Amino acid sequence: MEPSENILEVRDLITAFDTDSGQVTAVDSVSFDVPRSRTLGIVGESGCGKSVTALSIMRLLPQPMGKILGGSIQLDGKDLLLCSPEEIRKVRGARISMIFQEPMSALNPVQRIGKQLSEIFLLHRPEMSKKDAWNASIDILHKVGIPSPEIRVGEYPHQLSGGMRQRVVIAIALALKPQLVIADEPTTALDVTIQAQILALMKSLQHEMGMSIIMITHDLGVIAETCDRVVVMYAGRVAEMGTADQIFHNPQHLYTDGLLKSIPRLENQRKSKLATIPGLVPALQNLPIGARFASRSPSPVSEAYLQSEAYKTTRPSLKEVEPGHWVEDCPAVLVESMGQGSPEDL
Ligand SMILES: Nc1ncnc2c1ncn2[C@@H]1O[C@H](COP(=O)(O)OP(=O)(O)O)[C@@H](O)[C@H]1O
Ligand SMILES: [Mg+2]
Repeated sequence: MEPSENILEVRDLITAFDTDSGQVTAVDSVSFDVPRSRTLGIVGESGCGKSVTALSIMRLLPQPMGKILGGSIQLDGKDLLLCSPEEIRKVRGARISMIFQEPMSALNPVQRIGKQLSEIFLLHRPEMSKKDAWNASIDILHKVGIPSPEIRVGEYPHQLSGGMRQRVVIAIALALKPQLVIADEPTTALDVTIQAQILALMKSLQHEMGMSIIMITHDLGVIAETCDRVVVMYAGRVAEMGTADQIFHNPQHLYTDGLLKSIPRLENQRKSKLATIPGLVPALQNLPIGARFASRSPSPVSEAYLQSEAYKTTRPSLKEVEPGHWVEDCPAVLVESMGQGSPEDL
């Protein structure tokens, strides 16, 4: 069988949490592909289900509240949802690894950096001696651009700057040359210059090592810098997905359009008010079955839709508007239905 062009295929993933006020569905039947050696971006406002999607793939949902209720997650043809806990432990780190937003939380504050790195090698590569593992740790620190790695291996995380710590976290994530790296807001905690350096580093390591990346961010600027394909999530669902070019230059969903308009641009800086999308993300407890963004996109079409039976009973499917470009199939949330110039135009 030909290997698929995708390293990861997520289909109809449903992830829910048991809470005091009942079960909430954080990820509501989400599907997407991650092409080999490419970067897929997942973007959307805080709370839309990006991290829960990542934790579902890693099988690291908080227990016992978090549950995957349906779907499949195929890594190179193997369904991760069918793996035993022991199998999934082997996949983690070696085949898929994750980079979190806050580097300190991923590092052990009381252990030398070299020890933390060595342990990964020793755990997954039993043939390595301690000395080999220590040397491999120095090599990987060198690769992620840490100066004097042979000195740094002997230091503790607090002795490094935030940017250097995130490089260590990247080194840990890449140590075993995984096929897929999931980076969840990897640069959000860093200042802009360091952010650009870290994104450039990830890109060059991707060229060198050929891994695929899922880049999770609320920042379309980061997406523009790094991604080949983009999934736009809204309230636990995919609103739109396509190539970065399609999403940036031909957005079809009013939510994508709103996110694009809220990016600060140099030419807008004299304007005092930055465009934001009006309204709130609906609470997960009482979500409609229909198109969820409709309540935030005022127009005669959406007013009529919100009163309709379809809003209460029918989930819109995704339609392919051009090859590889999919959008929620509901006029109330489509850019075309707004005609020329929306009220929020800058
Ligand atoms: N531990 C949890 N317990 C209950 N609900 C949770 C938990 N973690 C996340 N959720 C729910 O899942 C939704 C999506 O969260 P998350 O994926 O973290 O959002 P984000 O897109 O900001 O990463 C949240 O809005 C929240 O309602
Ligand atoms: Mg998150």
